[in-house]
Amino acid sequence: MKRAIYPGSFDPVTFGHIDVIGRALRLFDEVIVAVAPSEGKSPLFPMAERLDLIRASVPGETRLSVKQFDGLLVDFVKEEKAAAVIRGLRAVSDFEFEFQMALMNRRLAPDVETIFLMPKEDYSYISSRIVKEVARLGGDVSGVVPAPVAEALRHKFGKAR
Ligand code: PNS
Repeated sequence: MKRAIYPGSFDPVTFGHIDVIGRALRLFDEVIVAVAPSEGKSPLFPMAERLDLIRASVPGETRLSVKQFDGLLVDFVKEEKAAAVIRGLRAVSDFEFEFQMALMNRRLAPDVETIFLMPKEDYSYISSRIVKEVARLGGDVSGVVPAPVAEALRHKFGKAR
């Protein structure tokens, strides 16, 4: 039974994340989406809403769970007895930071492997940050985020545009 952890801020979850979740589920028996508080990034959505939006975006997938984690990612990985950490890689620009994180995590926990998965090309330009900016300024994000997220963003920014 192989379990993987897919960590991130997911503020909010996008079709890029959903695509990576699908790929991870094809490789592993179980995937846990692990949501970090990421308070330093001043999240738009509180933790409970980020968790709910992920759950609402991947309904009925019994091999997927969604959990909050605090503290070090590698400690959570060990607690959950997972074999690997999944991270999405969209472009070369992602690589440097991802490489630093993967190697620091390896230093902290040599048995924990990081696996990078590339989302479908259609989603390679999407980020939660850009989605929030477009939504805040009234743009249509319905093609790049799941319906519950588009609805939550409309609600957040106060207008059904
Ligand atoms: O979606 P993000 O914001 O790129 O995800 C970053 C995240 C949450 C995976 C990373 O910040 C993280 O692992 N935070 C937990 C604390 C930790 O273990 N930090 C050391 C990583 S080298």
